[in-house]
Amino acid sequence: MSVTVVVGGFFGDEGKGKIVSHLVNDKSHSYKIVARGGVGPNAGHTVVIGDKVYKLRMVPSGFAGKNIEKLLIGPGVLIDPQVLLNEIQLTKTMGKIFCDYQCGIINKAHIEKDKTNSHLKDQVGTSGSGTGPANEDRVRRILPLACDIPELQNILIDVPLELHKALLDNKSVLVEGTQATHLSLWHGTYPHVTSKDVTASAICSDVGIGPTNVTDVVLVFKAFVTRVGSLRAEKMENQLTDEETIKRGWVEYGTVTGRLRRAAPFSIPLAKRSIFLNGATKLALTKLDIIFPEDSGKKEFEDLSSQAKGWVIEKEKQLGMKFSWIGTGPADSEIITRKK
Ligand code: GTP
Ligand code: IMP
Ligand code: MG
Repeated sequence: MSVTVVVGGFFGDEGKGKIVSHLVNDKSHSYKIVARGGVGPNAGHTVVIGDKVYKLRMVPSGFAGKNIEKLLIGPGVLIDPQVLLNEIQLTKTMGKIFCDYQCGIINKAHIEKDKTNSHLKDQVGTSGSGTGPANEDRVRRILPLACDIPELQNILIDVPLELHKALLDNKSVLVEGTQATHLSLWHGTYPHVTSKDVTASAICSDVGIGPTNVTDVVLVFKAFVTRVGSLRAEKMENQLTDEETIKRGWVEYGTVTGRLRRAAPFSIPLAKRSIFLNGATKLALTKLDIIFPEDSGKKEFEDLSSQAKGWVIEKEKQLGMKFSWIGTGPADSEIITRKK
């Protein structure tokens, strides 16, 4: 029995979706339950299984795990009912997926405000998904909850109690975070942040798991740093120009917003701070293949080019921790699992 929490180490879009979709099929853990924390449908996780690409905003990225019995969305997560119901159809997860009675509900007015309020839209550069305005209403204690919505009645459950029962039954649980450490309302680059804390402690609280139950915190980094959102947010250390980003092939567009993500090289200071803010016990690295294209799709550390190996080892020395998983392509199978 174990509880693993997966969170992002930079500004989101590190590839948590891919790491989670890999972990749920990893035989050494045999997870039975996936629980999603985080803000809500402002997230955009990409899960690539075989030749199928899923862009998910609400359904947990671990939906395709072969032994997964239940997919749970914790009470700290905001729900956009239409987005959730569409994704349940797309992923064929009806009967397996449940959300908590106390998940807050995003309505059209929240989305409208997120898209038109000049502070949110221009200063913060929000995703426009309505999460910030809905969390404002939650704090004012006027936000409708999932239990008030007829369309959701057959997928409601007491998520913290389900997780408690699963742990009593010795079932392993994977808890998915969204957004990332430096977008945290408490710890991030305020005011250019999301509307909640999103570090590992907050993600556990979102789903109702106490800190003493956590076995591992897996912190996901990308081989370079990207961030979307307001151009007014301060520049990242060594931020590249758009031209240089394109030249290096580090181009990414937001899954939810479609905006070009700003890019910078891997940042040791940001990574070190994330490690202690989350109490990370394991690290994952994605997109090594983007900075070393010749290493695309490799599955053994020993097979990496000497440049890629050197790059990884240097980062590990500086961080004082190893990367337990290294992504070498978008598909869930394109990954190196490091031997201890
Ligand atoms: P948020 O919850 O929105 O922060 O997203 P996320 O962390 O799940 O990441 P997202 O899916 O938005 O972005 C990661 C992108 O990188 C996706 O397009 C993935 O398919 C891709 N990706 C993930 N890992 C790798 C990798 O190792 N190599 C390559 N080439 N692509 C990867
Ligand atoms: P909000 O969360 O939509 O209010 O947006 C606040 C800031 O967080 C903006 O800069 C968004 O682009 C960013 N953000 C929110 N969720 C994600 C995510 O999942 N990935 C990357 N950036 C995000
Ligand atoms: Mg994303």
